[in-house]
Amino acid sequence: MAEIGKDIAKAKQLLESGELVGLPTETVYGLSANALDTEAVVKIFETKNRPSFDPLIVHTGSIEQISEYTESIDEELQKLADKFWPGPMTLLLRKKPIIPDLVTSGLDLVAVRIPDHPMAMELLLSLDFPLAAPSANPFGYISPTQARHVQDQLGDKISYILDGGNCEVGLESTIIGIEQGQTIIYRLGGTEVSAIEQVVGKVLILPQSSSNPKSPGMLKSHYSPLKPFLLGNLEELAQKYASSGVKFGILSFDKEYPHLKAAERIVLSKKRDFYEAAKNLFAGMRYLDQTDVSVILAEELPEEHFGKAINDRLRRAAAE
Ligand code: TXA
Ligand code: MG
Repeated sequence: MAEIGKDIAKAKQLLESGELVGLPTETVYGLSANALDTEAVVKIFETKNRPSFDPLIVHTGSIEQISEYTESIDEELQKLADKFWPGPMTLLLRKKPIIPDLVTSGLDLVAVRIPDHPMAMELLLSLDFPLAAPSANPFGYISPTQARHVQDQLGDKISYILDGGNCEVGLESTIIGIEQGQTIIYRLGGTEVSAIEQVVGKVLILPQSSSNPKSPGMLKSHYSPLKPFLLGNLEELAQKYASSGVKFGILSFDKEYPHLKAAERIVLSKKRDFYEAAKNLFAGMRYLDQTDVSVILAEELPEEHFGKAINDRLRRAAAE
């Protein structure tokens, strides 16, 4: 199994010798490698069982470092960089040739971000290369928000996981780019749309569940538990399963639904706090997936604040 620890020097040494390290960030844990070393990047795809058409996000510790790997940045995107970095936002920028084609799956744009996590930051600033890091889960499964989640699924394939505690945000970064002067959101995430619009005006949110996506990782079925995951009205769903004698778990926003005969229940935020709900989402889904229920029943959140981004994850988890 992988060692879990807080030894940044050890992580640095492993990364410098072309190995993978589990990386805490404020959004989710990443599976990181030297982004400039194609052989190390190959290991990421193999370890996650990720198709090579799904490009990776490159992480750096500063805007100055990003300019070593990307061409000039559009004025609108620069405003977002100034406002939200370090933070849960990824920008699509024109790449310089130093970034291997494997990282971008052959695209001209590279996804970059500066994570807002003290350990990740210290590590990144100590390295003389950026880190490619997708979420540290097997392709298609729920993203990890604790070191133990990484251990549970990839622990037999990597040697070290940096333990940075529970991820504060709990949703992946918001992915933003610009096409013909129009700012576009390709993935809803940890930076809120309304905050983005305060900086650059109205943005276009691309439909999030295309099966032939522009952002290739945005496949319809993603973030999926292994158990059947059903999304809808909890009262109706629970009634159906209770009458057929199937053991079910429920994942609800704020209410406990004490009258429903669930074997297990997770409430994302009793006080209807969207930040808290986001932070608890993936850990809650994982928990229910690992208990002995046969099916997980869940409800959508109101489409406000992080509700849209959370519903996006729930719908994908429920997709066939
Ligand atoms: O918060 C996050 O973004 C986390 C942490 C670890 O930083 N990372 C993450 O990576 O969520 P991943 O690989 O699970 O998702 C990255 C998404 C994929 O859907 C991918 O298709 C998209 O970013 N992406 C990466 N490079 C792209 C590019 N050049 N053009 C369009 N989409 C890109
Ligand atoms: Mg992912």
